[in-house]
Amino acid sequence: MPDANTIAVIPGDGIGKEVVPEGVRVLDAAAGAFGFELAYREFDFASADYWTRTGTMLPGDWFETLRGFDAIFFGAVGWPQVVPDHVSLWGSLLQFRRGFDQYVNLRPTRLMPGVASPLAGRSPGEVDFWVVRENTEGEYSSIGGRIFEGTERETVMQETVMTRVGVDRVLRFAFELAARRPRRKLTSATKSNGISVTMPYWDERVAAMAQQYPQVDVDQFHIDILTANFVLHPDWFDVVVASNLFGDILSDLGPACAGTIGIAPSANINPERRFPSLFEPVHGSAPDIAGRGIANPIGQIWCAAMMLDHLGHDAAGAAVLAAIEQVLARGPEQAPLTPDLGGSGTTAELGAEIAEAVAGAG
Ligand code: NAI
Ligand code: MG
Repeated sequence: MPDANTIAVIPGDGIGKEVVPEGVRVLDAAAGAFGFELAYREFDFASADYWTRTGTMLPGDWFETLRGFDAIFFGAVGWPQVVPDHVSLWGSLLQFRRGFDQYVNLRPTRLMPGVASPLAGRSPGEVDFWVVRENTEGEYSSIGGRIFEGTERETVMQETVMTRVGVDRVLRFAFELAARRPRRKLTSATKSNGISVTMPYWDERVAAMAQQYPQVDVDQFHIDILTANFVLHPDWFDVVVASNLFGDILSDLGPACAGTIGIAPSANINPERRFPSLFEPVHGSAPDIAGRGIANPIGQIWCAAMMLDHLGHDAAGAAVLAAIEQVLARGPEQAPLTPDLGGSGTTAELGAEIAEAVAGAG
C-alpha cells in the first residue's frame, strides 16, 4: 500500500465543528472500502476560541506547519460576536489561499435528487456544471488609492490586474477539466463590450488556449446575460471559467440554482501541488443553528469527495458522491435528512447514513 495521504483537519467555528467530524467519518469509510490510508492531524487555530486565547487567528508558523500536508479539510471560520468577520477571514482563510497559491476556486453546481431547485421544472441531470473562478488576481487587487480625501475633488481608483501567467493557468485548469468531462464544453465569462482593456485580453487568452484543446467546444457570454442564462438555461453549461469578480458572483449563483446552501462544496486548488489545496463547504459557521446538532453535513461530505478526487482516489470520490445522491433520493421519510431538507435527522445521523452507504460500495 502506498504511503498514507496526510490531511490537516481544521474545524474552525460554529457548525464547522459539527460537520467536519461527519466528513472525516465518511472519509474513513471510503478509505476502508477502497483500501487506502489517510493520516489526519487536527488543528484548533482559525477559530474564535484560538483568537480569544492568543489574540491571533493563526500561529506564527502556520505556513511551515501546514505546507507539508497533502490537503486541508476545512470547516468554517467566523464568530462575529467575538471576532469581527474581516479579522477572522483575512487572518485565516485568505492567508491560506494566498500563501498556498490556491489560484483555482472550484465549485460544482449539480441538482441532486430529492432537493428542490428554485428553478421551476428542472430535474437532476439537467443542472450539472462546474464554476472555475480565478482566485488570486483580476478585479480583487489592492492596487489603487484615494486622493483629495474629504474635498470636492475626492478621487478613488482601483485597478484590475490580469497577468498572462495568472490568466493562462486558470484557463488551462478549466480546459483540462472540460476535456475530461463527457460533454467537453467550456464557457468563458467576459464583459469585453464594456471593460475594454482587461476583458478583451481575457478573451484573447481564451482563444489562444482553445487552439490547444480542439476537442473542447468553447463559447462565451457577457456576464450580464450569462447570469440570466444560469437561471433560464442551466442545461447549457458544463465548465464555466471566470475572472475573480465574475467567478465570485457565478459561484454563488450556481449552487443557489441547485438548492440548499447546506449541500454545496468548494475547493481552493493549487493544481501543481506545490502546496496543499483546501476543501471547504460554501456555507459559513451558521451561528443561528450552531450547537444544536441539526446542521446539514452534506456540503462538508461533498468536499470530502472532491478531496478524494484531488488525491487521486477517483473511485472513492465517485462512491461518496453516489452515496450522497442515494441517501438524498430516499427523501425525508426514508432517510435521516436534516431540517433544511425537510427532515428531522441530526447531523450525526445523516453523516452515519452516508458513511454506511460508502462502506458498502468498495
Ligand atoms: P452561513 O452560511 O453561516 O449561514 C447562512 C444561513 O444558512 C443561516 O441561516 C444558516 O443557518 C444556514 N446554513 C448554513 N449552513 C448550513 C448547513 N450546513 N445546514 C443547514 N443550514 C445551514 O452565513 P452567514 O450567517 O452569513 O455567516 C455566519 C458566519 O460564517 C460569519 O462569521 C461569516 O463570516 C462566516 N462565513 C464563513 C465562511 C467560510 O468559512 N468560508 C463562508 C461564509 C460565511
Ligand atoms: Mg462569494
